[in-house]
Amino acid sequence: MTDRKATLSVGGKTIDLPMYSGTAGPDVIDVRALVQEGVFTYDPGFVSTAACESKITYIDGAKGVLLHRGYPIEQLAEHSDYLEVCYLLLHGELPTPEQSEQFHVTVKNHTMIHDQMRNFFHGFRRDAHPMAIMCGVVGALSAFYHDQMDVTSVKQREITAHRLVAKMPTIAAWCYKYSVGQPFIYPRNDLSYPENFLQMMFGTPCEEYKPNPILAKAMDKIFILHADHEQNASTSTVRLAGSSGANPFACIASGIAALWGPAHGGANEAVLDMLAEIGDEENIEKYVAKAKDKDDPFRLMGFGHRVYKNFDPRARVMRDTCNEVLAELGIEDDPLLRIAQRLEKIALEDDYFIERKLYPNVDFYSGIILKAIGIPTSMFTVIFALSRTVGWFAHWDEMSSGSYRIGRPRQLYTGPTARDFPEHLK
Ligand code: SDX
Repeated sequence: MTDRKATLSVGGKTIDLPMYSGTAGPDVIDVRALVQEGVFTYDPGFVSTAACESKITYIDGAKGVLLHRGYPIEQLAEHSDYLEVCYLLLHGELPTPEQSEQFHVTVKNHTMIHDQMRNFFHGFRRDAHPMAIMCGVVGALSAFYHDQMDVTSVKQREITAHRLVAKMPTIAAWCYKYSVGQPFIYPRNDLSYPENFLQMMFGTPCEEYKPNPILAKAMDKIFILHADHEQNASTSTVRLAGSSGANPFACIASGIAALWGPAHGGANEAVLDMLAEIGDEENIEKYVAKAKDKDDPFRLMGFGHRVYKNFDPRARVMRDTCNEVLAELGIEDDPLLRIAQRLEKIALEDDYFIERKLYPNVDFYSGIILKAIGIPTSMFTVIFALSRTVGWFAHWDEMSSGSYRIGRPRQLYTGPTARDFPEHLK
């Protein structure tokens, strides 16, 4: 924190507001005192608003930098696995080999869900969107651990983190199994975290499932790349829900709901739908023109970002992983990948996208990898939610373990002023 200040003139009165500097990124102006001056700040979409102080993730949008507890995402994707990144996000430091081993064992011992939760799945129509099922089932977890959720207890917050990280793959895979009418496959303790997810997704009771190590590694990298991303819409939703002291499982369910939108985590599903709609490289110009047309609601899904005004560093890693997976699977000539690569090239050379600094984001390539692995489009955002659960919890935990107030934004009111109930309607 520094002792610098910003000076504001409101209605002829000069107001000094404290300013603070972090360890990186823009300084902030503390505007909390403005309410005493009878004015609010106005920032729909929170473009220029820092809603909290955090030590978890830092993004430099201009440089395309993403750090988790100071470590660049590219290095974590190369040298860590997802559970080690979970440990880092939750505890602030990378685990020692012993801590990593212990964390992997702990997570393995929490992968099953209460058998009564099977009933929640059967309450949904078979054609329910898996995100609808996941939202409901994760919220329902709050009914199974409610008596062990003292948010002021460090121990209980820690076991909740373990339960969520461990159970999300089981819940995600069961959302898929339910939608295709196949039996739920239980987790196996002899497999790694990503291998276990793939076997619960694609295994059947009829034969032993042998995970492909390249696909498991790609899955783990996708988990790492989606683990956390500062104060995005879904993380801010989890923080706001948590600020009332709500049950953490219910708060995570609110994050799943916010992530579902196509402007956020639903974009990976929307990218595949868009590539399929474009259908052929000869249609690309037409769709780029639609994306630029103010009167056309069509947007290039997987492009643009509120913070990144450069390449999303996750998109670069995702693109390399995409090429590895397709080569491993012998899918050298994937038509959707061809359209995606051509679309990226055309968009990056077009003034409309250059002026607005619209680059491919994390969702642009992830869907192509997931499709190549055999995961249906409707499951893409479910996998994003699985990965992001640790980030949501880390932010909830950071807030819950500190001093916080309930989040309660104000507004610019432009509705009717006070008026009496009409005589003729009394
Ligand atoms: C994620 O916040 C996070 O960190 C999110 C995330 C995470 O890890 O949590 O990174 C995950 O959500 C990635 C983003 C996935 N969404 C998409 O790919 C959907 C397509 N993108 C857009 O909807 C948009 O770019 C957003 C939502 C991502 C960002 O929206 P902003 O910051 O509110 O930007 P904007 O809508 O104000 O756009 C600025 C301009 C506008 O044109 P002008 O009014 O200036 O003329 O750029 C245009 C927009 O029309 N624009 C696009 C575009 N994105 C923005 N035009 C065409 N295609 C696009 N994709």
